[in-house]
Amino acid sequence: MAFLEVKDLHVSYQRAITALTGVSFTMEEGQIMAILGANGAGKTTTLRALSGFIGLDNARVTKGRIGFDGQDLTRRPPYEVTRQGVVLVPERDKVFPNLSVHENLEVVTSRASGTRRSELTDLVYTRFPRLAQLRKREAGLLSGGERQMLALGSAIVCAPRLLLIDELSLGLAPVIVEEIVEHLRVIRQDLSLTILLVEQSAAVAFRLADSAVVLEHGEVALTGTSEALQSDSAVQNAYLGTGTEGRRSYRAVAEARRLAEQEGRA
Ligand SMILES: Nc1ncnc2c1ncn2[C@@H]1O[C@H](COP(=O)(O)OP(=O)(O)O)[C@@H](O)[C@H]1O
Ligand SMILES: [Mg+2]
Repeated sequence: MAFLEVKDLHVSYQRAITALTGVSFTMEEGQIMAILGANGAGKTTTLRALSGFIGLDNARVTKGRIGFDGQDLTRRPPYEVTRQGVVLVPERDKVFPNLSVHENLEVVTSRASGTRRSELTDLVYTRFPRLAQLRKREAGLLSGGERQMLALGSAIVCAPRLLLIDELSLGLAPVIVEEIVEHLRVIRQDLSLTILLVEQSAAVAFRLADSAVVLEHGEVALTGTSEALQSDSAVQNAYLGTGTEGRRSYRAVAEARRLAEQEGRA
């Protein structure tokens, strides 16, 4: 059985808006996978469903199953999911702005306690030396990059086994993203983490992830290794902005290419 198995996941908001219609994918332990897709494709909804933080927005899983390391996590509340080691770094509201950096790490409800918890806090400061310097600074005064590091740090203190990261690079300068990605690589080794990250930037996703799932309108349009996806011209056109056809949906580009090939043969 796969480490993470998402099968035929359907999610609706307010019993009306269907955000996911049959999303399926699997992950092996130790893997880094990216979820790619345009705005509104269902990336955040997928992570919310996995983490249990879905009821907050009046959304629910209407069909499908989430299996994690032999456990059924479908429709479990966030605290139970976190206790299993599935930890979310959300898109927004990542830190408590009125608390200091250190207090932010202290208020986290972690499945680790005692020595293990202190070790994890130390690890955060070792791997993000900037946070160690800013230990007493109010989180609301941090830069975007520092805030993202603190959000990751708070997640690390939870002793994650599967780390879910929503929009790692959003609003950050490329050089800062680069730095965070490097830190994250090292921490991943330290803790043998499995990481599922959501990205709008395919360039960032492919630099970090072994494989990716491309979502379109709440469905999986494509799955593959980063290598295979990067060399797929339809993916390049749709997500990397490197093609000549401008940014279009993956399906539109793949369909256009298929038609062109047909005509070429005729
Ligand atoms: N709180 C919400 N209430 C109603 N609909 C929502 C809410 N959040 C997201 N949606 C809808 O669900 C779909 C998927 O959104 P989302 O998962 O946020 O996409 P992404 O993260 O890929 O941009 C969109 O159509 C969006 O409008
Ligand atoms: Mg989102």
